[in-house]
Amino acid sequence: MAEKKRYRSAEWYNSKTHKRDTFVHRGWMRNQGHPSHLFDGRPVIGICNTWSELTPCNGHFREIAESVKKGVYEAGGFPLEFPVFSASESNLRPTAMLFRNLASMDVEEAIRGNPMDGVVLLMGCDKTTPSLLMGAASVDIPTIGISGGPMLNGYHKGEIIGSGTGVWQLDADLSAGKITEEDFVAAEISMSRSKGNCMTMGTASTMGSMVEALGMSLPHNAAIPAVDARRYSLAHMTGKRIVEMVKENFIMSKVVTKESFENAIKVNGAIGGSTNAVIHLAAVAGRLEIDLTLDDWERCGKDIPTLVNLQPSGKYLMEDFYYAGGVPAVIKQLLEKKLMNKDALTVNGKTIEQNNTSAECWNNDVIKDFESPLVKDGGIKILRGNIAPDGAILKPSAASPELMKHKGKAVVFESVEEFQEKIDDPNLDVDETCILVLKNCGPKGYPGMAEVGNMRLPQKLLKKGIRDMIRISDARMSGTAYGTVILHTSPEAAVKGPLAAVLNGDLIEVDVVNGKLNLDVSQDIIDDRLENYKPILPDIKGGYQKMYVDHVMQADKGADLDFLVGKRGSEVKRHSH
Ligand code: FES
Repeated sequence: MAEKKRYRSAEWYNSKTHKRDTFVHRGWMRNQGHPSHLFDGRPVIGICNTWSELTPCNGHFREIAESVKKGVYEAGGFPLEFPVFSASESNLRPTAMLFRNLASMDVEEAIRGNPMDGVVLLMGCDKTTPSLLMGAASVDIPTIGISGGPMLNGYHKGEIIGSGTGVWQLDADLSAGKITEEDFVAAEISMSRSKGNCMTMGTASTMGSMVEALGMSLPHNAAIPAVDARRYSLAHMTGKRIVEMVKENFIMSKVVTKESFENAIKVNGAIGGSTNAVIHLAAVAGRLEIDLTLDDWERCGKDIPTLVNLQPSGKYLMEDFYYAGGVPAVIKQLLEKKLMNKDALTVNGKTIEQNNTSAECWNNDVIKDFESPLVKDGGIKILRGNIAPDGAILKPSAASPELMKHKGKAVVFESVEEFQEKIDDPNLDVDETCILVLKNCGPKGYPGMAEVGNMRLPQKLLKKGIRDMIRISDARMSGTAYGTVILHTSPEAAVKGPLAAVLNGDLIEVDVVNGKLNLDVSQDIIDDRLENYKPILPDIKGGYQKMYVDHVMQADKGADLDFLVGKRGSEVKRHSH
């Protein structure tokens, strides 16, 4: 008789040489009532849970985990749920992004240090998806993802209201005196009316779609609403599948390759996905030792139209997207145009083509086609020039077409505090042709690269009815935001990147079609200004934040910590007892 396959967890629960260790590992687990047969060498499946009451978007994850467990048991596995750092976009200060890398370290060490043969990642709120993918990539055991799903559509005064996107609109209306404080609060109550993550095509839904496009989840992961029974069926199926993946030794790096990232970039263009995907995918790729650069975004994102008519680029919300066919209906169109790497594998062992070729679109106003897209040239545009030698990005589908080529006078803010203090000053020398420039909000400068790039417009211009202006910064912007906003300018001002050299009144030239972003000042003057520039640096005393600032890489590299890049594997050499 062939010897039974020994999985990684056998080193903890069935050691042939360290009997005392096995006693301790198994014995203490028994206090939870697990019967003996669960320690018989079957696949042990970790369920990596970002549940937290402080991360409201992931507040239902204990329920999702229960469905995953059912699937794991059904397939003959042994599920064990464990918590990890949950980075809440809505609550965490100074910005959840500062803690994405910390959470990824937690995930990585929790997976590596514990007896698990495969892991299910429960992801939802913005940073919880990349942090779990990054951590799991560094360990590289069989891994499958499931997102918590979006909230149901918000409704306010008979109209749909989208997470985030509605807030930016209402805030502008409140500043312009168009609505009252009471209206503002009433909208707040109408917006988040069920469990789930933001239901616009913000960063959470974008990253859920990226998980699907990378092949890291079962089809339909991104769009099934959090409260829809089919979300729980998907979780059940996910649990069942991870046990098979362990038996097949189908590790994460066999699923996610350079081709998968290229597919994800194309899907991001077609869904009108968040600019944050650029930074998160770069970080996940870095962990897998896959070289993914802004040039790949340029190459793969070129000529991809935005098909999905969702806020912030369009009008609908994720619930509508699911009913219209979701990500599979988008991938199908990309496959038909021969734009996908069709043989890229996915977690169910099938190719992306096999998974999506029979998808259907049920509403072509929500998911448009190539002949009449929402935006002809969608995706993410990469801009380069003497302000951003290592690149900056812009999302054309959320921008104003008339500002795509523009020369304007810079109105400069050295910090977000200076911006807040001066933006509504009636004496501020600004009109709608100017370009707002914000410095020192990059990875090291903020620290954590906050989502402050979509600076609010001056009240005096809002009152005139102006709703968009060009804005440039080294910050990020919320995936739910919109506007002609140039982000991730690299290198950032805090490391004396040339953004630091921009002064009030300088002329800046933006040419999105040709990917240009230039300061109309000679290189000698820029160099001279930079030599004398004193960045405004955060006052950090120590701890994780100090480590972050010392080691964080620039935005174009994914803003990961330099020592976390590269795969480190699942081996643990030393025993604990
Ligand atoms: Fe959590 Fe938007 S705040 S998904």
